[in-house]
Amino acid sequence: VDEATPPWTLQSRTLEGLAGYIRDGKAKRVVVMTGAGISTSAGIPDFRSPTTGLYANLARLNLPYAEAVFDISYFRQNPRPFYTLAHELYPGKYRPTITHCFIRLLNDKGLLLKLFTQNIDCLEREAGVPDDKIVEAHGSFARQSCIECKTLYPDDLIRKHIEEMAIPFCQRKSCGGLVKPEIVFFGEQLPAAFFANRGLPAEADLCIVLGTSLTVQPFASLPGFCEEGVPRLLINQEQVGSLGSRPDDVLLLGDCDDGVRKLAKACGWLEELEALWAKM
Ligand code: APR
Repeated sequence: VDEATPPWTLQSRTLEGLAGYIRDGKAKRVVVMTGAGISTSAGIPDFRSPTTGLYANLARLNLPYAEAVFDISYFRQNPRPFYTLAHELYPGKYRPTITHCFIRLLNDKGLLLKLFTQNIDCLEREAGVPDDKIVEAHGSFARQSCIECKTLYPDDLIRKHIEEMAIPFCQRKSCGGLVKPEIVFFGEQLPAAFFANRGLPAEADLCIVLGTSLTVQPFASLPGFCEEGVPRLLINQEQVGSLGSRPDDVLLLGDCDDGVRKLAKACGWLEELEALWAKM
C-alpha cells in the first residue's frame, strides 16, 4: 500500500468505494448542489441542453437573446416573454423525480448538511426536503413582489395572472411597478441565504453535484469550496466545472436518475428509495 496516499483516495475512485465510505458512516455532513438536470425527467426542460433546453426553444418569444427572458432590464421593458414561460413552468404541475427523493432520503438518514439548488421548481421541497435544509440560490416562485417598491403581492392573485397569462402590476396606485416572482434574474443579487451558507461546503465530508452545467456564478464556485481530500461526486450527462480535477472526485456521467439508483443500490438503500418515490 502506498503510504503517501490517504486511505480514502485508494478506495474512492469508484462508486463502490464511495458507497463504502457512506456505509462506513464516514459521510455525516453531505452538501448537495443541484441544477435543472435533475428535473428534466419530471418534464421540465433544462436551460442549455442543445435541442431540448429552454434557451434553444425560446425562438417563439422572439427575444434579442435567450437569457433575456430572465434579464431584469429586459423584463422591465417587456415582461411578456417571462410570463409566457411562467405559465408553462409554474410549480404544482410536476412530480418530484427519484433524484429529488434521493436528496430527501439523505436527510431522512440524518446525513444532509445542506442542499444548494439553482432550480425554481420547488421539487426538492415537494419531495420532502425540509425548508431549513434548502438554499434556493436563484430564488423561487414561492413569493412575488413589485420590482420597484418591493411591496409583496398576493399569492392567489399572481397564480390567477400566470394562469391567464396576464401581467401583474403593483397594487400601490402611486407605484404601478411590474410584479415579478422572487426568482433571481440576471442582473439581480442572490438571496442573503446563499451568502450566509456559502461557507458550508468547507465543512462537508461529502459533496454531491447533480444535474448542472456549473456555468452560472457565484453558484458554480460552490464545489470548489470543499476541502481537499473530501470526496466530490458528480452525477451529470457531461463532465462540468472542476469536478474530476481532484484525486477524490468521482464522476458518474449519464442520466442522474440512473446514477442515484446505482449509488442507492451500492449503499443498500434502493428499495427504500423506490418506495419513497412511489409515494410522490
Ligand atoms: N441527467 C443528468 N444530467 C442531465 C440531465 C439528466 N436527465 N438532463 C440534463 N442534464 C445536464 C445537462 O447536460 C447540463 O450539464 O444538466 C445540466 C443542466 O445545465 P443547465 O441547463 O445549464 O441548467 P443549470 O446548470 O441549472 O443552469 C444554471 O442558469 O439560466 C440560469 O438561473 C438559471 O439556474 C439556472 C442557471
